[in-house]
Amino acid sequence: MRIDIITVLPELLKSPFEASILKRAIEAGLVEVHFHNLRDYATGGYKSVDDTQFGGGAGMVMTIAPIDKCISKLQKERHYDDIIYMTPDGEQLNQSIANQTSLKENIIILCGHYKGVDQRVRDKFITREISIGDYVLSGGELGAAVLCDSVIRLIPGVLGNETSALTDSFQDNLLAPPIYTKPREYDGMKVPEVLFSGNFGEIEKWREEQAYKRTKERRPDLLKD
Ligand code: ADE
Repeated sequence: MRIDIITVLPELLKSPFEASILKRAIEAGLVEVHFHNLRDYATGGYKSVDDTQFGGGAGMVMTIAPIDKCISKLQKERHYDDIIYMTPDGEQLNQSIANQTSLKENIIILCGHYKGVDQRVRDKFITREISIGDYVLSGGELGAAVLCDSVIRLIPGVLGNETSALTDSFQDNLLAPPIYTKPREYDGMKVPEVLFSGNFGEIEKWREEQAYKRTKERRPDLLKD
């Protein structure tokens, strides 16, 4: 998979890709991540990428020309399955969107800034708009990092233990069950006996029950489907 991220703040975005699972995925060649500084596509002395709103109103708007130049250049080099715009008014990121996106070959992620982009950018290029939650961030960069993390860990081979992503919360619209490790007893708090039974059928059944119970208590909305 190849991910091209267009941003005015590449520095803000780089560090999540330089540690742990994402770093290893890149080093193993399972994913390529490329950063494009929008300012490199701006013309004029100030390399400006934004301007005031037509019709008045507070806040600057990202102009179409530099974004067009950057996306058009990338599109000449390869086909993109999705061009995603990070924005608080997009559809909310969930595990299903992460799963779908992890199956794509090439994607572009455009990070908004200031008030956002000129509507014509959305009309001309964007195939999917994603929000990471009902709150407003200063820009799309942190959202793009969240999206990339949720997607990259699902690419086959990225997680050491292939089953590990399959047992995450949300994979079956259920939250993950409680988990335990050593010691067997701490300060009078014991690990449930069933986990020592060696009976994998029983253990699986217990985990499913616990996952269901936790989901019902904390996220009953997930059980509606
Ligand atoms: N840009 C600003 N706020 C955002 C959000 N909540 N999700 C994605 N991108 C954003």
